[in-house]
Amino acid sequence: MVDPRRAIIGERLRGVENIIAVSSGKGGVGKSMIASTLALILARKGLRVGLFDLDFTSPATHLILGVGDLYPEEEYGIIPPRVHGLRYMSIVYYSKGETLPLRGADISNALIELLSVTRWGVLDFLIVDMPPGISDAALDIIRLIEGLKFLIVTTPSRLAFETVGKFMRLLLELDIRILGVIENMKISDSTFIQEQVEGRGVRFWGDIPFDRRLEETIGDVDRLLETEFAKKLKELVDKNLGI
Ligand SMILES: Nc1ncnc2c1ncn2[C@@H]1O[C@H](COP(=O)(O)OP(=O)(O)OP(=O)(O)O)[C@@H](O)[C@H]1O
Ligand SMILES: [Mg+2]
Repeated sequence: MVDPRRAIIGERLRGVENIIAVSSGKGGVGKSMIASTLALILARKGLRVGLFDLDFTSPATHLILGVGDLYPEEEYGIIPPRVHGLRYMSIVYYSKGETLPLRGADISNALIELLSVTRWGVLDFLIVDMPPGISDAALDIIRLIEGLKFLIVTTPSRLAFETVGKFMRLLLELDIRILGVIENMKISDSTFIQEQVEGRGVRFWGDIPFDRRLEETIGDVDRLLETEFAKKLKELVDKNLGI
């Protein structure tokens, strides 16, 4: 039987111009930091932006943004609350900070539920903090959200890129648009990642240096936006998104 909620998902996202999935084949590479900061940077440019944390395994954007005890409003669905100029929605609103005891079909179900109830309204950009790499949840999101474009994050590590490269290949095989790759936590001047990325015909956005002050800013977006990390990300956005 066709799940009626599936048809609603397209309807719910109809007013959203661009949906960017921040993703990687690897964990701990800075996806949540980049997704949150990217959303804030776009919002400070005066654009209408949403941030959607769909990382079932390790949701973190609520900590980065210092969201506190905020809950979405219900009105023929769920309206994401406004946080620091963004519309914000996270899986933690459902899990209340506990580990979600979800497996297999339950994950798909929770995703369909969340996507079909959330009313984003009109947005220029919706940034999605994705679940890990090629997990079932990530594949479900790809299947459920039409027109998703990927921004891939890696570190300079050749070992990390071993997996990130496979993830890129899968996306390319599935004909999914990759906006580009960011090399995060750069500490040397190696060009290995850039060569690998460009060798696959994908745009290399550039690198973001390892920033020792970044960790202290978690929970304080004004300080976060003052970091070298955020300034460099803004440069990459200006150059590569052309806005
Ligand atoms: N450029 C950077 N310089 C210094 N620290 C960084 C940088 N980017 C990210 N970090 C730190 O690395 C840690 C991991 O970042 P983050 O949580 O964004 O990664 P992730 O890819 O979302 O992880 P997960 O796979 O668990 O979701 C965080 O503590 C963050 O502050
Ligand atoms: Mg994360």
